[in-house]
Amino acid sequence: MKVVFLAPSYPPEMQQYTRGLAEVGASVYGVGDQPAASLPASLKQHLTDYLQVPRLLAEDDVVDRVHTWMRGRQVDRVLANWEVMVLAAARLRERFGVPGMSLDAVRGFRDKQLMKDRVAAAGLRVPRSARIRTATDAREAAAKLGYPLVLKPISGAGSADTYRVESDRELEDALGRMHHVAEASLEEFIEGEEFTYDTVCVGGTPVYANVAQYLPKPLIARTNEWISPVIVTVRDLAQPALAAGIKLGDRVLGALGMGDGFTHMEWFRKPSGEVVFGEIGCRPAGAHLVDQMNYTCDIDLFREWARAVCWNAFDAPTKRKYNAAIIFKRAKGQGRISRITGLAEFMRDYGEHVVESKLLPIGAQRRNWKHTLVSDGYILLRHPDWATACKLADIVANHVTMYAE
Ligand SMILES: Nc1ncnc2c1ncn2[C@@H]1O[C@H](COP(=O)(O)OP(=O)(O)O)[C@@H](O)[C@H]1O
Ligand SMILES: [Mg+2]
Repeated sequence: MKVVFLAPSYPPEMQQYTRGLAEVGASVYGVGDQPAASLPASLKQHLTDYLQVPRLLAEDDVVDRVHTWMRGRQVDRVLANWEVMVLAAARLRERFGVPGMSLDAVRGFRDKQLMKDRVAAAGLRVPRSARIRTATDAREAAAKLGYPLVLKPISGAGSADTYRVESDRELEDALGRMHHVAEASLEEFIEGEEFTYDTVCVGGTPVYANVAQYLPKPLIARTNEWISPVIVTVRDLAQPALAAGIKLGDRVLGALGMGDGFTHMEWFRKPSGEVVFGEIGCRPAGAHLVDQMNYTCDIDLFREWARAVCWNAFDAPTKRKYNAAIIFKRAKGQGRISRITGLAEFMRDYGEHVVESKLLPIGAQRRNWKHTLVSDGYILLRHPDWATACKLADIVANHVTMYAE
């Protein structure tokens, strides 16, 4: 099993997927822009060969170089788990004629308008929306759709350049800040709670599924620095309150022609109970959600994903033991972390439920919270009881405080 894996070193969790591939018996041919000599030894040991390309995001160039590099050699899979590389992987699959999702199918997971059109065509509820290329498009669509609306890039990530707009004036403001975005989507603002639906699929059918709740919704967390964003995996997937969302998720996979691998979907539950599609990618969630899923079931999805895509098998138990919560912290003030309050008390009282504590240490330079969801670090904890997991997360969010000077 010879696997070409794009971007094996960055983002950092890609090194775990590389390990997973090697552990299920694949020979991994990595393609990245980092010099081979600077790859960590822990990664290198899992790579059969490595091609350094000048720019990973130069898609045409990467496709040509990888094609030349592997020409004449057997290739069984071309894979990518980083959102910005999934189209390049699909193009390479078509060039080599190896199995996997087609370029057309992957486009449906990358282009937020095409995605919604395909999901809607399957009779599923999506926000009413329009593709926007010019300010005139936006004004016309706003008149048709009615406020409140969300304006966001057609292939965005991490809530970047995403605005809730409630009036013509706010729309003009948002348009003024979006000049660097070539294409956008303007859509009906969906009021309600926001969840993920994450899967590992074989042939479009989940062999592993997970739901997590955002507390609060990412757009709110991304616009208010004082908030500590929390994401909690839901242990009990059989509860009636999630049934419609999971059914929506499974039908979306069918509508978009999912093949093998990870998916990360977001969906809304309105106060009426109606569920609405948000967005989906054919790659794993970032920001440690895969770690949370691993802690939920005590499994290793980095490896089981590899087994699913290489051998169409999944060998880990899917019994769910915990609700796993991650709490991202943002320090008050600028500069270096100077002190952390509330942490010692929390660890004394509840430390047994904490599985990872990765807050920046005293003296470390603060990160830019706009650029990274992980902000100034995180605490990951778990508990079998939903209400207790949420209560503990709430204590970390509101009573553990980091200061910077
Ligand atoms: N139609 C919508 N209604 C309500 N909130 C939305 C809508 N679209 C996006 N959002 C908010 O903005 C966030 C980012 O938008 P999303 O489409 O998920 O893009 P990204 O790829 O940046 O994650 C969402 O998680 C959600 O909180
Ligand atoms: Mg999103």
